[in-house]
Amino acid sequence: MEKSRPRVILSAAMSLDGKIATKTGDSELSSKQDKVRIHILRSKVDAILVGSNTVKRDDPLLTVRYVKGKNPLRIVLDSKATINQKSQIIRTCKKIPTIVAVSKKASRQNISKLKKHPLEIMVIGKNRVNIKSLLKSLSKKKIKTLLVEGGGTVNWEFIKLGLVDELIVTITPYLVGGQNAITLVEGEGFSHIHKSTKLKLKKICQLGNEIVLHYS
Ligand SMILES: NC(=O)c1ccc[n+]([C@@H]2O[C@H](COP(=O)([O-])OP(=O)(O)OC[C@H]3O[C@@H](n4cnc5c(N)ncnc54)[C@H](OP(=O)(O)O)[C@@H]3O)[C@@H](O)[C@H]2O)c1
Repeated sequence: MEKSRPRVILSAAMSLDGKIATKTGDSELSSKQDKVRIHILRSKVDAILVGSNTVKRDDPLLTVRYVKGKNPLRIVLDSKATINQKSQIIRTCKKIPTIVAVSKKASRQNISKLKKHPLEIMVIGKNRVNIKSLLKSLSKKKIKTLLVEGGGTVNWEFIKLGLVDELIVTITPYLVGGQNAITLVEGEGFSHIHKSTKLKLKKICQLGNEIVLHYS
């Protein structure tokens, strides 16, 4: 029997004060050592998922580069199909399998721009990408493990829907500040602690000047 959704691991590096980027969008928080750890993790999952703002801000490759290993499938949540044609993800989609998940709100024009590239476009959701339906479709594609790599808005959505099985957070030795700097979890937030997600601390690893926390 196929599982109805992949196992979801949410991973991020945050400053001591809970930010995952500065107010200008600088997210270079992890040390080289931590990046190696993340790339090992990437090589063990079937797919990596990020939100459209992370692509806009960071222009990530989402590949395994610091260690030897396979590149997982890359998934971008991009309701309006506005991903930059020059982004690293689009430029490398010939070599690395890529899904751009869009909603019915995406214009025909934007979709046809995307269709020029060898990637899969999944239309899923009315105004925004419907995450639950997306996970169902990924299961059908034999995606068993999904690494969610942010940003804060996407993290909130997965947490709100109770879809996070594991959380791995690196606490980096920076105090970033800034009320507009993106935090680990954005969105509207829970109204009370008893309504929030209570996780179980499984492991703590010290990596030089950083601490990696594993929760389930
Ligand atoms: N330190 C770290 O580990 C780390 C990791 C990742 C990102 N970051 C930082 O995080 C920042 C970006 O975070 P962010 O919160 O602004 O944006 P985000 O979470 O990367 O992307 C959010 C966007 O994803 C799209 N989306 C589509 N369907 C969605 C759905 N069902 N639920 C939620 N989002 C959906 C929406 O845009 P559309 O409506 O246009 O589709 C939404 O605005 C960047 O500065 C980046 O550097 C840091």
